[in-house]
Amino acid sequence: MAGRIRLGVLISGGGTNLQAIMDACENTRLDADVVCVGSDNPQASGLERARKAGIPTFVVDYRAIARAFRAAPEAAPLPKDFRLDEIRSKQRLMAGASDPARLDAFLKTRAIAEAALVAAMEPTPFDLLALAGFMRNFTPYFIDRVNGDRALPRIMNIHPALLPAFPGTDGYGDTFRYGCKVAGCTVHFVDYGEDSGPIIGQRAFPIRPEDSLETIRKRGLEREWELYPECIQLFAEGRLKTVRMTHPLPGGKTLERTVVTILPKS
Ligand code: GRF
Repeated sequence: MAGRIRLGVLISGGGTNLQAIMDACENTRLDADVVCVGSDNPQASGLERARKAGIPTFVVDYRAIARAFRAAPEAAPLPKDFRLDEIRSKQRLMAGASDPARLDAFLKTRAIAEAALVAAMEPTPFDLLALAGFMRNFTPYFIDRVNGDRALPRIMNIHPALLPAFPGTDGYGDTFRYGCKVAGCTVHFVDYGEDSGPIIGQRAFPIRPEDSLETIRKRGLEREWELYPECIQLFAEGRLKTVRMTHPLPGGKTLERTVVTILPKS
């Protein structure tokens, strides 16, 4: 893909990354237009940033959906194209889940929410979906519907740690508490696992003895605001390619991993 791309963005909170992306679109650092902004959280203050910029917004209230499911699981409005067996076998969010009933309930509530997301985004087609502080993992139900049979994935996420270290919801906190001497952020494509998809870009910075979690978070966010638009721009320029790599390991084993190759500027 080359030229100006259409960007969907999902947020859960304050939306400073969304703001950085919208600003980059405005000042021509990013050949993209944000076409819609959605949230799982009706209170997400970042939605106001989108509204101010005249961008259509929507909310799919994940909490309300989970509550309704718990109250009446048999009456749950599961999407017609939802196949529990298929989603269960593909998902890597809850590996070895000890309670199968809990896993199924999770996958069902998520499919209801994810079908609502797909429907909400239908009026504004997008080339890339950027998760900017969206605090929900996607199941294969959503990922397959967004990616279709395209060779290149098209859901991107920004994570507040140097993956694969510290996946999960508190990357800067986990980095700080571990006693790391370097912190950072990562932009990656989303796959069926949690923060496990192919890495597109990373930015690191040193942790100084006088740093606190607050100062690390502040410096990290500043790096995120630079890194995310840069990675989206690589996508817009058609310079991202995923490649399946096979590496020999000791003991005759092999490691397979899909990685991102960044193509030179043409
Ligand atoms: C960022 O640190 C992002 O990496 C993480 O959540 C935070 C969102 O911040 N996933 P904001 O809503 O973009 O300000």
